[in-house]
Amino acid sequence: MKRVQLTAIPYGASSGTLIFLSDKASLDQLSTVLSTDEMAFLRQAAEQDTHTFFFPRSDASVLVRLLKKEHTSAATAESARIAGNAILRELRQYKISSVTLRNTCEDDYSLAFAEGLALGSYQFLKYFTQPAKKEKVLNDIQIESALEANVAELNALLEAVFLARDLVNEPYSFLDAPRLAEMAAETAQKFGFDIEILGKEKIEALKMGGILAVSKGSVAPPQFCILEYKPETAKNAQPVVLIGKGVVYDTGGLSLKPSEAMDYMKCDMAGAAAVIGAFAAVAANRLPLHLVGLLPLTDNVIGSGVFAPGDVIRMHSGTTVEVLNTDAEGRLILADALHYAKKYTPELVLDLATLTGAAVRALGTQAICYMGTAPKTIKTSLEDSGWETYERLVEFPLWKEFDEELKSNIADLKNLGTPNAAIITAGKFLEHFTGEYPLSHLDIAGPAYLRTANGYRTKEGTGVGVRLLYNFLKKQYV
Ligand code: BES
Ligand code: ZN
Ligand code: ZN
Repeated sequence: MKRVQLTAIPYGASSGTLIFLSDKASLDQLSTVLSTDEMAFLRQAAEQDTHTFFFPRSDASVLVRLLKKEHTSAATAESARIAGNAILRELRQYKISSVTLRNTCEDDYSLAFAEGLALGSYQFLKYFTQPAKKEKVLNDIQIESALEANVAELNALLEAVFLARDLVNEPYSFLDAPRLAEMAAETAQKFGFDIEILGKEKIEALKMGGILAVSKGSVAPPQFCILEYKPETAKNAQPVVLIGKGVVYDTGGLSLKPSEAMDYMKCDMAGAAAVIGAFAAVAANRLPLHLVGLLPLTDNVIGSGVFAPGDVIRMHSGTTVEVLNTDAEGRLILADALHYAKKYTPELVLDLATLTGAAVRALGTQAICYMGTAPKTIKTSLEDSGWETYERLVEFPLWKEFDEELKSNIADLKNLGTPNAAIITAGKFLEHFTGEYPLSHLDIAGPAYLRTANGYRTKEGTGVGVRLLYNFLKKQYV
């Protein structure tokens, strides 16, 4: 599907619909394109807090959007993104497919506005018999005040978010574990990073008991993808490792989910999708950063020979785990990836996973629950990136007192705590499989998937994590 493209153009070079990003202080600048009557109307309406105005013309129409300055630049950027998304209504109404953004405000938020507009214009129409009927018309966004390099960077980032959304939106019938690995390989080829895909035999040889147990009932074999981006310019001596939960469909296994909790479980690979998207964005923009990605991929279904509550399994690390709930499968496959990550002696490991329903209940779809052993500087930087991209993070504690919950009668650990503090016990479980390296574990179960759109976060897969990771990695390591 054709997706919206951003371009940097010189001032006055476009002939299409002009969108003025203005505020009350800069209204005068509009007098070059509006009549005296229109200006009088605009001034009066602006006082009454109307913020969107459309002036149709036979050639180039004019749209004015008043932006508000918030208390921080991150908040102003978010309000510009929301404004960008909001004008999609007018653009659709008037069937406008090409727009030019002209900033008249003192501070320029054209890029954030364009970002919201582009993100909100995303659609996933592959499975409609008549996609053209559903299609919105926005093709290109031209920006007068932006540098070409910044626009190119944003284009690549948007493409990466759209890719992650596409991957989440694809149903299980299309996207099983081998197909997801193939899509990761296509992405690697297209954006310029390396990938190695380990099939079932290799996973068996590595004794990745968590992945093998979860995939025991699967028809399609599990996969373990190793992504690597290592430019000569890399500034970090040791790689940063990104791990993404890739459960292509989570039925819960024998600890079966009720159907209303299962109907959207194609989203359970959103962590893997975010990592693939982040690699695409980093590689496309040639960030000087050594990055490794680990994606354990499988489904969690019922079949013959499935793993069962009460089973004891031996993990890749050698640790034994009593499985008390087969629906707590994410931590089992992530644990094997976390142990595998040790061989890189990474500078930092970040894992992204739709790990617990408790995370959804705690913060809804508004934020990521995160926890880990990363130092304060990393945590602050991640949280800042959360505000800057509005993919916000809230920290949960990994206090040692929670260890009690995972003690098993017959094995080193069990994979289930009490119903209380379930976000944390999932994180605690993961902590057992980390090495010396610092870890930040991001439970994205809430914001990864929306049943209905929330502004520029379109319905179904949101691509959460891609913009956050890109912002963080660029700021922290480049
Ligand atoms: N994939 C689910 C978590 C999930 C819930 C993701 C809602 C997205 C939206 C995960 O594998 C799971 O089922 N977790 C269980 C763990 C429990 C059995 C300890 C849960 O949270 O109910
Ligand atoms: Zn589950
Ligand atoms: Zn799951």
